[in-house]
Amino acid sequence: MCGIVGYIGSRDATPIILSGLKRLEYRGYDSAGIAVLVNDRIEIRREAGKLSNLENLVNDAPMHGVTGIGHTRWATHGEPSARNAHPHLGMTGEVVVVHNGIVENFLELRQELSSEGAIFNSDTDTEVIAHLIERYLAAGTRLVQASRHAFTHLKGAHAIVVLSSREPDQIIAARIGNAGGVVVGLGRDEMFIASDLPAILEHTRHVVFLESSQIAVVTRQGLEVTTLDGKAVDYEIHNVSWDPVAAEKGEYRHFMEKEIHEQVRSLTDTIDGRVDFENGNGIRLPELNLTPELAKRIRKIFITACGTAAHAGMIGKILIEHIARLTVEVDIASEFRYRDPIIDRDTVVLAISQSGETADTLAAMEEARQKGAVLWSNVNAIGSQAMRLADGYISMQCGPEIGVASTKAYTAPLVDIYMLAILLGSLRGALDKSQRQRLIADLRRVPDLVGRCLNREAQVKKVARALANTQHCIYLGRGINMPTAYEGALKLKEISYIHAEGYPAGEMKHGPIALIDKEMPVIAIAPQDPWYEKMLSQIEQAKARGGIVIAVATEGDERISAIADHVLWVPETPWLLSPVTTVIPLQMLAYHIAALRGLDVDQPRNLAKSVTVE
Ligand code: AGP
Repeated sequence: MCGIVGYIGSRDATPIILSGLKRLEYRGYDSAGIAVLVNDRIEIRREAGKLSNLENLVNDAPMHGVTGIGHTRWATHGEPSARNAHPHLGMTGEVVVVHNGIVENFLELRQELSSEGAIFNSDTDTEVIAHLIERYLAAGTRLVQASRHAFTHLKGAHAIVVLSSREPDQIIAARIGNAGGVVVGLGRDEMFIASDLPAILEHTRHVVFLESSQIAVVTRQGLEVTTLDGKAVDYEIHNVSWDPVAAEKGEYRHFMEKEIHEQVRSLTDTIDGRVDFENGNGIRLPELNLTPELAKRIRKIFITACGTAAHAGMIGKILIEHIARLTVEVDIASEFRYRDPIIDRDTVVLAISQSGETADTLAAMEEARQKGAVLWSNVNAIGSQAMRLADGYISMQCGPEIGVASTKAYTAPLVDIYMLAILLGSLRGALDKSQRQRLIADLRRVPDLVGRCLNREAQVKKVARALANTQHCIYLGRGINMPTAYEGALKLKEISYIHAEGYPAGEMKHGPIALIDKEMPVIAIAPQDPWYEKMLSQIEQAKARGGIVIAVATEGDERISAIADHVLWVPETPWLLSPVTTVIPLQMLAYHIAALRGLDVDQPRNLAKSVTVE
């Protein structure tokens, strides 16, 4: 969703901000803008559509200054257009703001400000923030104080950055609630502000993450952080080890393609250093802070997440219940806080999130915190809110994931939770030594098995060509691969815009079978797992109704090759880990279909990489 970049220093701010915004394009946006202080006056350029439109505008009418802020907007209030793009000015032209989040009470505020004489130039909720700050500046208040006063009027969660020609030697940045992050990058005689790390990593690795309800005064030489009510905060400087090159496409056409292929490495890193292969003795997840006492005390785990991360959670439930014999419920995060879940201090709530900034997931975590649960997270983005809110976390070892369609951040949590299940099972006495050793030995094979799936890309491309013009698709799976059907369908629909549904195979005869005819490809996930025979009979039923069947099956399975129209082969995989391999051909299939259709694979329409509004 919206991206923020700010710069204060001695270099030309415009190219720094534009290149930072470029690195945030993956978040999803529909317009962009930039404001720079030129000779102590604010100049603004804004444009609808891609960033290249804004770059053209800036090239036609250049502006040079050493302080500025920029924004990519994902429309919530008001159509995507130049006038609704951020930054937004107040009436005097002295205050300009960029903002992520939704001002929930903006209509009341707009009425109140209009009655005081404010004239609005956009349909956005954001503009009220600039007017509010001006209201307090007019009373002679300093910028930081005026911003503080203004922020107390806002309902909802926000990341806000403010620039004013009245105090040109500073930028104000604030984080209120969980509307995405605010990170300040510390340079030498220059400072950077961003909603996400990739925007600033080419300039500095020393960063400070603002916590909720904190406000920062950023000057060329320094950073002062306070709480919203003015108390000084002792902030921590993090040294980020992410390689900015990891966020480049390299030899690949799209980030998604690159990220699919990175899974051998990401899964190797996921396992590395966390597993004792030599003695098969155990799993190390130190950041989780899981003591033997806590492991024995837990009575129930809730997994909460959105989208792809929720599909990983559904598989996580099966893993933990089977391996650790502990009850797990999975909740879509946007529903969790609305159903009054029964939680106590012996309950663990585990949030899964690639970005660690998904508003619904953070809200679910807050709900869990309030109800007294132990909070865990499984997160990819270093320093993100979901990582910091939790009592313990498992960090996904994926590196930056740029493609909107999540791939490597889907397989990583499958392996993370598999390891967690072994750890829990061991600490709770649900696993004996030989069971643990066998599970750990299976884990060692994962990167190689994934590599073997990737080697079959040519075969997947052939099937992609056969399906490229289809209008609809149904994905069927059972048992541990039932969520794989959901995930395969989600991948296809989000990047190819083909209508795809994932279904538990056993539910087919309760309705969806009516859809099957020769126009409806059925993608059946049927590896040799405990549900294999059942899947085989589903395939027979689909074939009997004229359906075209594409099966994901275990190498050498002749019964499947005899009945399916196409087969996507995966190597024989222990069933608890089979979702890690069965999803790989489905990721590649979705990718190649979308690429063949000539679509914007990495930034599909209407979608955002991290969804920071409810
Ligand atoms: C995945 O392909 C999606 N784009 C989306 O469902 C995503 O998984 C979801 O928005 C959750 O994001 P998170 O992992 O950053 O919390």
